[in-house]
Parts: sequence; structure tokens; C-alpha cells
Amino acid sequence: MTRLVVISNRVAVPKARGAAGAQGGLAGALNSALRKHGGIWFGWSGQEVDEYSGDIHVQRSADGVTTATIDLEPQDIEEYYNGYANSTLWPLFHYRIDLTEYEREFGRGYERVNERFADSVLPLIEKNDTVWVHDYHLMPLGERLRARGVNNQIGFFLHIPWPPTRLFVSLPYHERLVRSMLHYDLIGFQNDEWLESFLHYCRKELGAEVNDKTGEIRLDGRTSRAKSYPIGIDYDHFMAKGDTGKARQAQQRLMSSTRHRVAMIGVDRLDYSKGLPERIDGIGRFFDTYPDQVRDLVYIQIAPPSREDIGSYQDIRATLEQKTGQINGARSEVDVVPIRYVNKGYSQEELFGFYRAAKIGLVTPLRDGMNLVAKEYVAAQDPEDPGVLVLSRFAGAAQQLQDALLVNPHSPDDVSHNINRALHMPLAERKERWEKLIVTVREDNVLRWTDNFISDLQSAEMTQQA
Ligand code: F6P
Repeated sequence: MTRLVVISNRVAVPKARGAAGAQGGLAGALNSALRKHGGIWFGWSGQEVDEYSGDIHVQRSADGVTTATIDLEPQDIEEYYNGYANSTLWPLFHYRIDLTEYEREFGRGYERVNERFADSVLPLIEKNDTVWVHDYHLMPLGERLRARGVNNQIGFFLHIPWPPTRLFVSLPYHERLVRSMLHYDLIGFQNDEWLESFLHYCRKELGAEVNDKTGEIRLDGRTSRAKSYPIGIDYDHFMAKGDTGKARQAQQRLMSSTRHRVAMIGVDRLDYSKGLPERIDGIGRFFDTYPDQVRDLVYIQIAPPSREDIGSYQDIRATLEQKTGQINGARSEVDVVPIRYVNKGYSQEELFGFYRAAKIGLVTPLRDGMNLVAKEYVAAQDPEDPGVLVLSRFAGAAQQLQDALLVNPHSPDDVSHNINRALHMPLAERKERWEKLIVTVREDNVLRWTDNFISDLQSAEMTQQA
């Protein structure tokens, strides 16, 4: 087995964000991959220093993963992370062209940090290492490494959606960005929809020779391959977290505080792509349509804040506070509050317990690469009395989890109708649906995802010598 060099923007699992889904799937998934394969995980430390030094901090974590990190300076963070990654690419790739900012400085900062990553990681890469780059922060990194003479197999995985060509071409220098991606041997997407959009773009806009069956893309004498690899949760690890006193206590805590009411739960980073205001509108519609059920249901929204320096994230927080406040103001009684809105993260153990106590899991992003909360919710259910997953048809996970109640998150009526269906679903149907869902969640886990990607990457021909 060759050594892995994993490169992503974030390395450490951020504190105070427990669930793989709530922190974004990436950090949890990569931790698991490295625990199994061994190697190095390189990225930004999350720290800001006055001036970039290029110093690399090497650490071995408690679970045996070696991390190597660099600090960035304020201008890098502003232009690369808050700027190009999260104010240009993130909204555009989540179909929010209205929120997309195209600032020249953002593009320059993105290029600069990708160069810094390439320079810093270069001495850590050994001859037979397999290099695996992750996510939209680092799309041009493969080309930067090739320019420095790296001939190893280099793969790239995009954790977020790939937008339709008509949206993507609104990005200035879109051709340059995708041409740089074609220096990877293998490019992975979360599902077939994003893969097809990417292949369509390569054919239509770059004039590349594309084989839809094999995913091969030929351009300028190089061949890359693109394929979909739906990410999963670290099933065994998550189940072990569930088998703890802390998880059982959390379950009990939620059950005793909701008593005779059904608990419905949502766990999301506070991000506009997660469809939180739209979800609250759907819940409001449910209470308007079925006012006699206000006493039957309590909704718990766990939403740890995210990317707080960015205006659109501050706006979503304000909108959500206003909407939950309105519903609670209108619908509460002295002994009934219909929505509990919590702006903090919980450990995986606690989330497991909360998921298990909740008879409905509401996961309704407007657009999402995969969404691992949906999978964690399924994993945490009691096989004898499972809850119901209500899932957006626009989450990448919907392609695999067809036995959930699939909804259009833009339609308050559809969300309300499906909450009602979930609330009254007979035990036999709940079991039947869950038994199908759990097979996918258990089998298509993160270890399989890693193995599939890495073995395809390692068997890719060395086609990159231009
Ligand atoms: O999954 C997408 C992603 O951007 C990951 O790269 C990241 O770990 C997660 O969402 C959370 O975002 P951030 O690192 O910006 O807090």
C-alpha cells in the first residue's frame, strides 16, 4: 500500500462541531481515510499570522494521523478563504449566482494561496506517494504541483456540487480553472448529476474529447478521468459513539424534555445552501395547516455558526432568528414552544442520542454536495422503532436514499405535507423504509469511498506527462 498525502483547506476537526455532517463531511471523512491508509494530511492550520512565513507545523494526533499545516496571513484569509472560495465559488457552485462576488483580488489571493500550498507541501511528497487533493479551495493545486515536477498520481475530489454549464460560465476565467483541473489523473464528484455537468462543460466549452461511459477527458495531449464517488459516514466509528453513556444521556435528555410530543430534528451548519429559512417556512405552513398539532410536535434546529466574517452568512443568521421568533411568538403557549433553535455544535455522541430521540429527521438543503446528516440520522435510529427521514431531492444524498420522503425544499406545502406524512407513518412502513436506507448507509461508508477512489487513482495510467 503506498502512502497517502491528503491535501485540503482544513486539517483539524474544528472543535465544537461534532457531527461529520454538521462540520461538513470532509474533515471527518479524511480523518478516517488516513487512520486506515497512513500518510500525511496537509493544509491550513486555521491560524492567522501577521506575515506568511512558510513554516510547517508537523503533529501526530491522538488517533495516529500525522498533520502538517501552514498559517496564513490576514490578506490570504480574506481573499482566498472568505473571498474566492466562499464568496465566489461556494455560492456559484450552490446555484446562488445572486450571492456570487467576482472580485479580482479574490482571484489573485486564491492563486497565491494555491502557490503557497504547492511550495510548502512539495518537500513532503515522496516518490511513490499517492496525492489526494480535496475541494473547491484547491482546484488548481494539481497543476501547480505538476509545474514543480510532481509526477505522482494526483487525484482531486470535489465535496460540493458542480454547477450546470450555463451558470458556471459566469465565472471569469472559468476555462483557466477547469484546464488546471485536467492535470489531475482522477477527478471525483459526489454524484452523477455533478459529474455530468462537468463532462458537459469540458466538451462544450473546452472542446475536449469526452467519453461519457469511462469518464475519460482528453485535452492538449493529456488524459484525466472523472467519476462519481458518493461519500458515506464512518459507520462503525459513528455506531461506537452511539454505544456510550454520553449518547444515551443525550437521548434521554431530549426525550424527557419533549415528553409526549414528537421531536423533529435538523442539524446544519448555518449556511444559506442548507435551506433553513425555507425549512422554517415549511414548518410554519405545517402549523398553519394543522393548528391542532402544535402540541404534538417540537422542532429542534441545531445550527452552529459558520464563516461568520462573510455578509451573506450574517444575513442568513438574522433571517433565521427572525423567522423562528415569529413562529414561536405566534404559536407558543406558556407550556409549549414549537421551535427550539440552538446556535452551537454538539459532540458526535450527543448528536447520536438526539437523532435517536427524534422521530423525524428534517434535511432540506436547497443544494448540497452530499449531506451526511441524512446518513447519520438513519444510522442512529432504533431498528425496532425507526424515525422517518425527510430529505431534499436536491441533496446529493437523495440519489442513494430514495426510500426517504423526498421533498422540494422550495415548497412550504410539500415540506408541510411530508412532515404530516412522517408524523403519521405506520410502524410497518417506517421499518420497511429504514431497512432499505440502512443498507446503503452501512455499506456505502466512508472507508469504501476512500478505497474506491484510491484504488481507481492508483490504477490510473500515468498519462500526465504532457
Ligand atoms: O464540505 C464542504 C466544506 O467546505 C468543507 O470543505 C469544509 O470542511 C466544510 O464545508 C465546512 O466549511 P468551513 O471549512 O468553511 O468551515
